[in-house]
Amino acid sequence: MMNFDLVIHNGTIVSESGSQLADLGIKDGRIAAIGLNLTGKEVIDASGLLVIPGGVDPHVHLNMPTATTITSEDWFSGTLAAAYGGTTTILDFVEPLPGETLKEALQARKGEAAGQTWLDYGLHMTISDSEKIPEIKSLVEEGVSSFKIYTTYGDMQLNDYEIVAVLDAVKTINGIVMVHAENDAIVKHATRNLVKDEKLAAQWHPHSRPALAEVEAVQRMIYLARVSGANLYLVHLSTRGAVAAAGQALEQGQNLVAETCPQYLLLNRERYQNEDSEVAAGFVCSPPLRSPGDQQAIWHALRQKTVLSIGSDHCAFNIHTQKQAGLSDFRTIPGGIPGIELRYPLLYHFGVRSGMLSLEQWVTICSTNPAKSFGIWPQKGSLMVGADADLVLFDPAKEFSVNVENLHEKVDYTPYDNFTLIGFPVMTILKGKKLIENGVLRESVPTGTFLKCGSPIIPN
Ligand code: URP
Ligand code: ZN
Ligand code: ZN
Repeated sequence: MMNFDLVIHNGTIVSESGSQLADLGIKDGRIAAIGLNLTGKEVIDASGLLVIPGGVDPHVHLNMPTATTITSEDWFSGTLAAAYGGTTTILDFVEPLPGETLKEALQARKGEAAGQTWLDYGLHMTISDSEKIPEIKSLVEEGVSSFKIYTTYGDMQLNDYEIVAVLDAVKTINGIVMVHAENDAIVKHATRNLVKDEKLAAQWHPHSRPALAEVEAVQRMIYLARVSGANLYLVHLSTRGAVAAAGQALEQGQNLVAETCPQYLLLNRERYQNEDSEVAAGFVCSPPLRSPGDQQAIWHALRQKTVLSIGSDHCAFNIHTQKQAGLSDFRTIPGGIPGIELRYPLLYHFGVRSGMLSLEQWVTICSTNPAKSFGIWPQKGSLMVGADADLVLFDPAKEFSVNVENLHEKVDYTPYDNFTLIGFPVMTILKGKKLIENGVLRESVPTGTFLKCGSPIIPN
């Protein structure tokens, strides 16, 4: 009988296909067996704990410059914070500078992460310049198969002709197009009216990006992707109309993955009405937080398996002084909110404990489906024999009080302040090695590496 390097004994092993009380054996950094009475050099008693695949966060922004500042979270701090919350793989973005080739931009981004990332990571390539479209195919061998486009956001925005060209190019390589979908004309129209009326405080931010802006752009992207036949990943869906459009497209057999984020499930637009405008600014993100009705519709879409992926869209800026510097005009408040650490536990507490999601659905949307969508499954997001032993021991009864002091994110606030969560990771294991144990970091240097992403497997 094989003697494993590490055995996780008697835990409830939860994967997309079911749950079982068993032992899990690890050898040479990989999952080597799931069975009973496994023996190993080290045995961890996981009685009463869930053994789950490490989280795969498909949507984070670390060390991301904007026109006026840079995210407060860097590779070192962000990947460590993720690990404390049970995420073991992240996918971030490359945003090429003018004059840089896509390959050059990729190398530069990998250079930033080298020696700084605690977790294995993959990269999506942003296409904001249609002249770069012919370079898309050159990235396949580099391990980049996902391409992000924007239908709004100034310089980042592509028009419909350019979007179709990206979709066609990505279809050729069997990759996936990610889209930030908001109708730019609607956003400009709403913003112009607010500016005319001198409604510039943070509380007006959600009015500048109406729900219909998202619904129109999501529906249009679905049609454009259908015409092209490309795989489509809709990032950060926030509205009832957008998830309804995604649901209809799925019914018609379209290859698409709809993502939402904890903030659109758990927070709503009331947050912008805080009389302290600095607090309100902490919630400025695009798309904005929506109505309780939208929240309910997205929960329903998760339960019905229309929304199949959870990204944090972690994009952290300190209130003091980054958000504060833009307070006089919502257009100048850096957009984005933090959430890399709590994505997995939030979905457990509010999804599983509430009875909205099964345990299996929870690990599927937070780990397996993001890994499938970006071609890193089953190496990541899976507990299959042969997969990387990226695991989390999760105590379903552990209480966690959310406040900045208890978190490891490098930012001076959390949108989930004062939440009390039941259920939290007690150990994060990376390729068979303990990284975090009972809140203590067990390794001394980050050893994460770049992950080559392949073609997506569209989950269902
Ligand atoms: O406001 C947000 N979400 N900022 C991050 C960039 C994006 O749009 O995903
Ligand atoms: Zn976005
Ligand atoms: Zn984002």
